Amino acid sequence: MRLVSIDNAKNGMVIARNIFTSDGNILLGKGKALTEDYIFRLEQWNINSLYIEDEIIGEIEIDELVNEQTKVETIRITKEAMNNIRNGKMMNSEKVRKAVNNIMEELIQNRKVIVNLVDIRAMNDFTFGHSVEVCILSLLTGIDLGYNFPKLKQLGYGALLHDVGKSTVSETLLYKKTELTPEERKEIEKHARLGYEILQKQEEISSVSAHVAWQHHERYDGSGYPRGIKGAEIQEFARVVALADAFDAMTTDRVYREKKVMPHEALEYLRDTGGTLFDPEIVKVFIQNIAPFPTGSIVSLNTGEKAVVTKVSKDFPSRPEIRIIQNSDGQRLTEPMEKDLRKELTVFIVGVLDEIEAGKLLSIEGN
Ligand SMILES: [Fe+2]
Repeated sequence: MRLVSIDNAKNGMVIARNIFTSDGNILLGKGKALTEDYIFRLEQWNINSLYIEDEIIGEIEIDELVNEQTKVETIRITKEAMNNIRNGKMMNSEKVRKAVNNIMEELIQNRKVIVNLVDIRAMNDFTFGHSVEVCILSLLTGIDLGYNFPKLKQLGYGALLHDVGKSTVSETLLYKKTELTPEERKEIEKHARLGYEILQKQEEISSVSAHVAWQHHERYDGSGYPRGIKGAEIQEFARVVALADAFDAMTTDRVYREKKVMPHEALEYLRDTGGTLFDPEIVKVFIQNIAPFPTGSIVSLNTGEKAVVTKVSKDFPSRPEIRIIQNSDGQRLTEPMEKDLRKELTVFIVGVLDEIEAGKLLSIEGN
């Protein structure tokens, strides 16, 4: 199984994981072979990437922090809440409360699982998928910061609804594919303050959760917006969500952004910006939960071999289990070799292949 972007999707490729619409329905099911018609439909739904079967890589089990169904359901609820607000109605806070609870419970059960930035990526409507992912990353951080249940809940609401103000921004502007003008950027930046005002009006949402919407674009050194406040002037929940939001945005393809960066690059960026853009203590806790080389990445080793990452443990994230698929002479192995880097102490990961390089490697005729 491997991830390909829609631009590299071809007829005949077999879908390895269900692809959902943001309403929670299956758009294309696992096992279906792609056709031109399907590819067109995926493009219509703004689906950027999908998992396909790959004979050379073989089967890979991806440990899920939060079950796919829970995520899809939360995306649906977030979309409904934001649409209600767009139409001048109240959101259904009971549903939101249940969704945050479900995520929290699963995260607490799966404490040993590390974040593999893989699932959810194959979904459309990035605002909603992104909100759920930010909620998950923020709660994980909150758990490690030692928050109790009431605190986690408040953090969870704020994180899930941090971009609720975007429901007041026109969709044309939100999904604009070309560079934004300074005026348009200003218009989008209003979502922070507007989000706060919306959440303040909702019963069940506390003021501290509402502040997350207002402050999630503020930066630790005062370089953020809308007010340019800094350090402890920014509420702690907002400092957590700011980090989760920036990290997720960086590692996802978005319409008005350039290409996403690889997780290990994003981690390096966070390490470098802890203390300037982000709260250094929160950065320390946050990065422990992220796999630098997620399951399914194709990596090159100091031995000259190429391998696919098959399992990442939270205790030793930079030393995953791997499956070697190409030897140091550039020949594909007919029998892939499994290795556990926690035991092979002289073997190191020296690079990660991007999707194009991985596609080339995997399309070389076996010899
Ligand atoms: Fe935002």
